[in-house]
Amino acid sequence: MDLRLKDRVALITGSGQGIGRTIALAFAAEGVRIAVNDVNTKGIDETVSAVRAAGGRAMSAQCDITDLAAVHDMVRKVEAEYGRIDVLVNNAAVLISHEMFLETKPEDCDKEIKVILYGTMNCTRAVLPGMVQRQFGKVINIVTDAARVGQERQCNYSAAKGGVISFTKSIAKEVGRNNINVNAISPGATNSPMRMEMLRQLKENIGEQKAAEREEKVKRAYALRRVGEPDDIANAAVFLSSEPARHITGQILSVNGGFAMLG
Ligand SMILES: NC(=O)c1ccc[n+]([C@@H]2O[C@H](COP(=O)([O-])OP(=O)(O)OC[C@H]3O[C@@H](n4cnc5c(N)ncnc54)[C@H](O)[C@@H]3O)[C@@H](O)[C@H]2O)c1
Repeated sequence: MDLRLKDRVALITGSGQGIGRTIALAFAAEGVRIAVNDVNTKGIDETVSAVRAAGGRAMSAQCDITDLAAVHDMVRKVEAEYGRIDVLVNNAAVLISHEMFLETKPEDCDKEIKVILYGTMNCTRAVLPGMVQRQFGKVINIVTDAARVGQERQCNYSAAKGGVISFTKSIAKEVGRNNINVNAISPGATNSPMRMEMLRQLKENIGEQKAAEREEKVKRAYALRRVGEPDDIANAAVFLSSEPARHITGQILSVNGGFAMLG
């Protein structure tokens, strides 16, 4: 299948590590030029180096996506360097609260909603005008099954992602006429640094053996009996950005080993 991605330009938020970095490498392997966004400059440098080491082109696009003015500056910088942005992957997120809702701190809730929901909307606001002008674009929002089926101890995070799901569908309806596809990928548990940190905290709290038992129980909730890897998500992002996926828009694609099966 010819994906027709060569020489496209992708801006990937939160690609200084984890799933975002894997998406950057997967796109680069298809000849896509990458703008690596994150707040973490060390992570950005590592991703840029990894893409270049693999023979691809990458640039740093450092900014905090909760700051709309900074996002506009970042988009101008990427467009000046690469001429345009064809693909926006809204991947950056924070998962701060692991307590029951009433025990969470309002300031943590605020931060989760700002990064996940406003961050996604800010980047979309800044990138879409160029896409509309060129009558071409792909926007991919990374959400979570926690927002689709509910997840205790992740109320703030899943509420923010639920907002992104609704935004995906509504904006897809607005910009479909401009030949812009907007979709979301909904991972189940995926072995990224974010999840590894969660597991580390769990081990600290309940001990190694109980944590291992809990992990086995998690796997049994997945039809394929495995937790996802970052490249499972990256492969879906490559496909949704490609020409063969041109008739898919406004969809929420679970990439979750059969954890939740939604009609
Ligand atoms: N790992 C999982 O199990 C899992 C499951 C479901 C969904 N997801 C989603 O997948 C995506 C990637 O997750 P991950 O596990 O790789 O996470 P991660 O924490 O490893 O990476 C997230 C990146 O976003 C960056 N970031 C945070 N705030 C930012 C901001 N204000 N501006 C710019 N960058 C910022 C971080 O610095 C980090 O590099 C997220 O949207 C996450 O919600 C992950």
